[in-house]
Amino acid sequence: MSAYEYETHEFDVVVVGAGGAGLRATLGMAEQGLKTACVTKVFPTRSHTVAAQGGIAASLSNMGPDHWQWHMYDTVKGSDWLGDTDAMEYLAREAPKAVYELEHYGVPFSRTEDGKIYQRPFGGHTTEFGEGPPVQRTCAAADRTGHAILHTLYGQSLKNNAEFYIEYFAIDLIMSEDGQCQGVLAWKLDDGTMHVFNAKMVVLATGGYGRAFFSATSAHTCTGDGGGMVARQGMPLQDMEFVQFHPTGIYGSGCLITEGARGEGGYLTNSEGERFMERYAPTYKDLASRDVVSRCMTMEIREGRGVGAEGDHIHLHLNHLPPETLALRLPGISESARIFAGVDLTKEPIPVLPTVHYNMGGIPTNYWGEVLAPTKTNPDAIAPGLMAVGEAGCASVHGANRLGSNSLIDLVVFGRAAAIKAGEVVDPKTANMPTNKASVEQALDRFDGLRHASGGTSTADLRLEMQKTMQADAAVFRTDKTLSEGVEKMGAVAAKLDDLKVTDRTLVWNSDLMETLELTNLMPNALATIVGAEARKESRGAHAHEDYPDRDDKKWRKHSLAVVDGNKVKLSYRPVHLEPLSKHKDGGIDLKKIAPKARIY
Ligand code: FUM
Repeated sequence: MSAYEYETHEFDVVVVGAGGAGLRATLGMAEQGLKTACVTKVFPTRSHTVAAQGGIAASLSNMGPDHWQWHMYDTVKGSDWLGDTDAMEYLAREAPKAVYELEHYGVPFSRTEDGKIYQRPFGGHTTEFGEGPPVQRTCAAADRTGHAILHTLYGQSLKNNAEFYIEYFAIDLIMSEDGQCQGVLAWKLDDGTMHVFNAKMVVLATGGYGRAFFSATSAHTCTGDGGGMVARQGMPLQDMEFVQFHPTGIYGSGCLITEGARGEGGYLTNSEGERFMERYAPTYKDLASRDVVSRCMTMEIREGRGVGAEGDHIHLHLNHLPPETLALRLPGISESARIFAGVDLTKEPIPVLPTVHYNMGGIPTNYWGEVLAPTKTNPDAIAPGLMAVGEAGCASVHGANRLGSNSLIDLVVFGRAAAIKAGEVVDPKTANMPTNKASVEQALDRFDGLRHASGGTSTADLRLEMQKTMQADAAVFRTDKTLSEGVEKMGAVAAKLDDLKVTDRTLVWNSDLMETLELTNLMPNALATIVGAEARKESRGAHAHEDYPDRDDKKWRKHSLAVVDGNKVKLSYRPVHLEPLSKHKDGGIDLKKIAPKARIY
């Protein structure tokens, strides 16, 4: 019996995380009258979605012809044929509805002359199944789209009586003896008390794990907490080897410069002043898909054509655009370029470098957000009582590479889908299952063990070692050598979790302990990433393997599943869903249009 007392709160649904996906799920649950709690370690409007700049993809056709099927085709091609067909159809079909809902909730989108939602071009979004010119599909609120969405969803959730538990850190899932998720244990950061949230459904919306790497556009809070909690239950993480590098992180700080900059007419140059993307992607040039642009930039640098004293970055030009356009459409990055690069972007180029930005992998789910616990006979078996949405989840719509602006639409489409499904499967009239006390005690013991950890390695030192290893060995380009060295190094790094030293033993605002808990979440995510990458002997999307430069659909068109146990990872695979939601004759996509082929932009 542990020395900690805890308060128990009963809800129909508990959502962990208050970014775009968490808030859209919370709102959808609360609107249906489900008693809903949202537990979040940061104030909702400080969640990482606030940093999303360029926009949200939906085929509204406000700026020219578009169609959900073209959006689906681009998503399939962007995923390098690893995404699940049913989930990708659901995303593209539901996107316009989800965006109009946001508009009606009050998101202050930028407008066209005739008052419609303004849409800009983004990489990899095209017309005519990749045969036509780039499409303007990305709906924008200047370059602060995530900020606008987050504030609106938070306000609407409050209006619908969702209950917020702010600055509560979720430690672990509470599971029944027969494997049903029953809630979470959380630590209230400002007074040190412990809380059990008992619920019929838990929704993990905890975001990505960008901070497993040294240089990332992600906030310091992006520590893969949901993935860590799931991994500790012996459940798998999916497709973790696919990590997206955004082409334009500011050199040095990693701060994001939106792809919307290139959408508005910006372009990249090397040390010879050449617009090199014209060589690599003759049709879509700087608006090719992100993984492609990041690789081309890296190749230019490797071949000696990088800019700067050390020839180690690239220039992004916006100085040819009218200053009024920059002020109207890109006010946020004008400020970021000044603060983080000391650059007036109306006059000079911005120094940029591919920077870790997004995790395509995560907790496996179906397109309703229900977490999958694959068995030998059923790869799509559902884990009862548990959902995952947003970057924490893997539905899988992004496959091996996500298109820009498909993240915000993923958050709202699948946050909304989770609410729709919960409306069907959660009965507010039935009593909750009593909390499994043994599971609570186990979580408290883990917490207490870390609180009193008295080894020889500080959390900050171990985190840095992990970040440097991941940055060096799970990079834009990978080889058998870097990956096998990375696996070995990460095994040794993860083993040092047993030697942690926490210096602050108090319970109130103990950032040392909170960062330690976060590190225990980052580590299984990082391990699954490097081990999954080492095993995948092909190149696909963001996984660019120099020893296996081609995609191998015969052997590798399959999702990886990684079960992490300590510093060991066990891999297995599950099939990609190839069936769409609707047949071509009933208005669905023509499967011939999305058949695998070479991915050229
Ligand atoms: O470039 C950006 O504005 C980022 C968008 C995204 O990751 O979807």
